[in-house]
Amino acid sequence: MHQTHFILKPLSAQLAFLLIVMGATAPTLFAQMTNSETTNSISEAPPAIPVLQIKADQVAGQVSPMLYGLMTEEINYSYEGGLYGELVRNRTFKANAQNPVFWNAVGDAAISLDTNQPLNSALNVSLKLDTRKASKTSPVGIANDGYWGIPIRPGTTYRASFYARGKGFAGTLTVALTSTNGETVFASAQVPKICKKWHQYEVTLTTGNVAPSKDNRLVISTTRRGTFWSRHGRVWFSQVSLFPPTYHNRPNGNRPDIMQLLADMQPKFLRFPGGNYVEGNTINERFNWKQTIGDISQRPGHRSPWGYWSTDGFGLLEFLGWCEDLNMQPVLAVYAGYSLRQQHISPGTNLDSYVQDALDEIEYVTGDATTKWGAQRARDGHPAPFPLTYVEVGNEDEFDRSHSYGGRFAQFFDAIKAKYPRLQVIATMRVTNRIPDLIDEHYYRNSQLQMEAHAHDYDKRPRTGPKIFVGEWATRVGSPAPNMAAALGDTAWMTGMERNSDLVVISCYAPLLVNISKLTGPDRSMQWRTDLIGYDALTSYGSPAYYAQKMFSTHLGDEILTVNSENIPTQPWQAPPARNNPGQTNSPPQPVPALFFDATRDSRTGMIYLKVVNGQGTPQPVKIEISGAPAIEAEGETVVLKASSPVEINSIQEPDKIVPATEKVDGLGKDFTREFPPYSITVLELKTK
Ligand code: AHR
Repeated sequence: MHQTHFILKPLSAQLAFLLIVMGATAPTLFAQMTNSETTNSISEAPPAIPVLQIKADQVAGQVSPMLYGLMTEEINYSYEGGLYGELVRNRTFKANAQNPVFWNAVGDAAISLDTNQPLNSALNVSLKLDTRKASKTSPVGIANDGYWGIPIRPGTTYRASFYARGKGFAGTLTVALTSTNGETVFASAQVPKICKKWHQYEVTLTTGNVAPSKDNRLVISTTRRGTFWSRHGRVWFSQVSLFPPTYHNRPNGNRPDIMQLLADMQPKFLRFPGGNYVEGNTINERFNWKQTIGDISQRPGHRSPWGYWSTDGFGLLEFLGWCEDLNMQPVLAVYAGYSLRQQHISPGTNLDSYVQDALDEIEYVTGDATTKWGAQRARDGHPAPFPLTYVEVGNEDEFDRSHSYGGRFAQFFDAIKAKYPRLQVIATMRVTNRIPDLIDEHYYRNSQLQMEAHAHDYDKRPRTGPKIFVGEWATRVGSPAPNMAAALGDTAWMTGMERNSDLVVISCYAPLLVNISKLTGPDRSMQWRTDLIGYDALTSYGSPAYYAQKMFSTHLGDEILTVNSENIPTQPWQAPPARNNPGQTNSPPQPVPALFFDATRDSRTGMIYLKVVNGQGTPQPVKIEISGAPAIEAEGETVVLKASSPVEINSIQEPDKIVPATEKVDGLGKDFTREFPPYSITVLELKTK
């Protein structure tokens, strides 16, 4: 679809003259300009004012109602240490086979891992506490510092639980929330007697009127060294858990502040469980959904490809509950027989059980209680089936060097279509032996300009093939979360997706979440920089890119309007060498637009949403002409996100440095001129009725 027609201003004569005077070759000068994310301003004589002609009587296509969603996986401590409410780190003691990492002994205690006292076959290692040296004045115990802290908030009730069994010990255990140095006890409760057999114990801990803090720990301790008969007590622990209040009070639920940030984006779908997380480093470390359902103490957990342990407390039903809470549809990624370390299962009978796993998974999501897996879901606490439209087969299978995806995809596609003909099946790369309903394309770009250079890619794409799912995309500047330059690159790109939303029917940014507590070094909390939302144990914040996405997704019509343009300023763009041919000679720089826009209309209300992105450091006046519409009201509204520099960023310390501002505006009509501030993203609401 070519509903937008550009007349680009060519490079000026002045610029050509400058090149000759400086004796610079064009690539040299352009390289200087493009290498800096902060200096891609236009060095031209005062340009003719850009004109946007909105053709309100020319609907170029329908905006996909599912255009904006979320993509998620266990990376950057997204769930454990992030969205998932659990506050205890390494609650099942399986994060390290040698040591009880993230656990500390309290007092003169001896603690160690023990594989001889498993709770069950899933949680097959426990933590042994030797209480021999306990005394009335010197308790012994175990302590956990959480994921870089445990959040303490005033007047809050926490639920602590653990499995334990004692030998030579039947005494009381004290469960407490304390400061890391132990000087302040925020709340404590007692478990009166520990039995000989495994048993689950639970207490609630309610804080008083305390200041919020995060440098805290959970402590389970005793002053008893053993029983009357045995002075050598031992207590074994399994699945030690601490939950604060969760979003919608869901048991085993999610952190409310992060959920609220996500809810505010009004996402339409959730792509899960990855990304690389669905694949795993090895076949054994894939997201094996059947091991992520049911009682959390029956889930063995697995290592995520991002280098840390996942208890799988955040399993398939938790993903679905998340969808339900935010009114999103699942976009379900099924494991497709390829794992990251080049392990694959060849198409044919060897792959059959994996295909069956995918069919079972779909049944778990969508089947009613008369089906085997629908009944399992009902037993797990959710009798009602979930809606499902899209199933994705694998992730980034172009990295499979065995080139087996064509055959693997065909086997999954045929089986899914045979049982669920209405499901839309997504391929992760182009295939020739089947026609997928959608293809998942990923766009990570390393500068604002690079992203801007791709903003018109889909204008030229033929409409004859499968629809497009942009399943991962991001302008990767800024760390840990994207800065304003990234938001500008992102929104340039998003104007392209909106303009071509008849083709790009679903899209989601990645990665979504990052725990910012430890950005570098061993045991770091971030594995991938530029993540939309950041948090530590206590608070969270949205990046400029987050606010930009929120603006776009909450101001979206259902009709794509044709917008013609004139005098759009340009900037030189030097494409980087292809990844597989780094030594190649650079092609000459190309002019690419430096102003981005699109218009959609809500057919119900008549409201036109004009989005304009000025990524440059100078104000940009734009003449806006609207034809084919009834009268445009003089009064409207703008939502503007802007910064004084493209490197500006939000942070835990300054979460609201760059946030959108909504203002009433006047002087709108069928023909008006408006100035768009430097480094700004604007949604202009034009009322036509
Ligand atoms: O988003 C981070 C990773 O990038 C995803 O896991 C993977 O699909 C892509 O390569």
